[in-house]
Amino acid sequence: MSESAPFSPPLITDAQSAEEQYLRQIFVRDQMAEWSKDPLIMAKADGVCYWDIHGKRYLDALSGIYVVSVGHNNRRVIEAMKQQLDTLHFSPPMHGTNPVAVRLANLLADVTPGDLNTTKFECGGAEVTEAAIKLARQYHRLQGNPGKYKIISRYQSWHGSTMGSLAASGLKSRKTVNEPLPAGFLHVFPPTCYRCPYGKEYNGGQCGLTCASMIEQTIDMEDPATVAAIMVEPIGHTGGVIDPPEEYLPLLREYCDKHNVLLIFDEVITGAGRTGRMFAAETFGVTPDVLCTGKGLSGGFVPISAMIVRGPIADAFWGPIETNPGFVEGHTNEGHPVACAAAIAVIQEILERDLCGNSRTQGARLRAGFERLAERYGCIGDIRGKGLFQAIEFVQDRATKTAFPKATNFGVRVGRRALQHGLLCRFDPNWIAFGPPLVSTAEQIDEMLAVLEQSLVEILNEVG
Ligand SMILES: Cc1ncc(COP(=O)(O)O)c(C=O)c1O
Repeated sequence: MSESAPFSPPLITDAQSAEEQYLRQIFVRDQMAEWSKDPLIMAKADGVCYWDIHGKRYLDALSGIYVVSVGHNNRRVIEAMKQQLDTLHFSPPMHGTNPVAVRLANLLADVTPGDLNTTKFECGGAEVTEAAIKLARQYHRLQGNPGKYKIISRYQSWHGSTMGSLAASGLKSRKTVNEPLPAGFLHVFPPTCYRCPYGKEYNGGQCGLTCASMIEQTIDMEDPATVAAIMVEPIGHTGGVIDPPEEYLPLLREYCDKHNVLLIFDEVITGAGRTGRMFAAETFGVTPDVLCTGKGLSGGFVPISAMIVRGPIADAFWGPIETNPGFVEGHTNEGHPVACAAAIAVIQEILERDLCGNSRTQGARLRAGFERLAERYGCIGDIRGKGLFQAIEFVQDRATKTAFPKATNFGVRVGRRALQHGLLCRFDPNWIAFGPPLVSTAEQIDEMLAVLEQSLVEILNEVG
């Protein structure tokens, strides 16, 4: 796991030849013409570092994209996968399951709070949030309430790219081009205290938590007999790591209980130790009816996601086949034995090395570093998040919270400069987020902060 592991020369030696060889044949998550001018192509990774095809090293302050929870090149996970490959590399999904999937389901029941105890495996985040939507609708149907089908989620949320998960998402930049989307999805404003959509100040809860009460009002106005579920990320990512006030999620739990609505947590990012506990449900002390997780569960070794459902909800799917078809949802690679073996090894790593504890310790160090930057430079208006999932929001004027002019593209410039200096983080015009591997050391966190500071200073000087 050392960073000095031998690195064989890259296959491709310059961007020009890389472009000739590959770049016309691949869609990347960016405007291809723009990206191909300076393409980032990673060739190798170890610990908390990547190396690109030119041999340049990058500190991974993003765990790839909140995926590489237990570090790159983690030997324990790789060995577990190798062993599984030698034993059973695929099992027939239409006819049953396999021992590793059962073991992982049991492990997930152990590490999730309350009576979350029944798992459906999927391969990615979109599949699992989409499965949660289907589960909510089918559950109510089985309970004799087929009219309960509406899903309430939030603007600025991201639940995935498939049509159902996209319909639940709240990002116009990704939705509009794909419209019309499926019906039955409603959106409410997120709990962005720093820029409260209702113009209030949190003030220890004196704001009255309108962000939450509007959700109950929405249920009421829509008619509770038509609402199936509320789906939220406990800490939203898009929008710049939206950390809710402590009362918010307990209130959602209360409304759901009152109106027979399922509470779904999308923990695709916040799961697997990211916020300092195994799941953010624990961080906030709220047990949802359905918990979706992905990304860090696999450590990025092989895709897997999981939806863990409360026992009483899962029980509704047991019954006579004549009237109850079970949960009608599935994908070819669900419960893939090698993916399950990887996820078991990832969870063991998190538990045995107390990586949740490290997420809290290094998260506190990261927060202190962000606070130091805020004191020094005055262009940081807010710091948000928990554990190793935190962001800073940039402002031109801290007193008025005025953002930098759009044309300045401030956060993107800082993020791109950081990339040039060998630091991978998530950036947007107004914020930058860090989500380093849970194995990160104090020295590595300090190095990440130092590169961010250097990049910030350079862009501040350029902006003038
Ligand atoms: C909170 C959240 N949910 C769901 C997804 C979708 O996951 P995937 O890209 O694996 O489909 C993402 C992806 O970024 C996410 O951040």
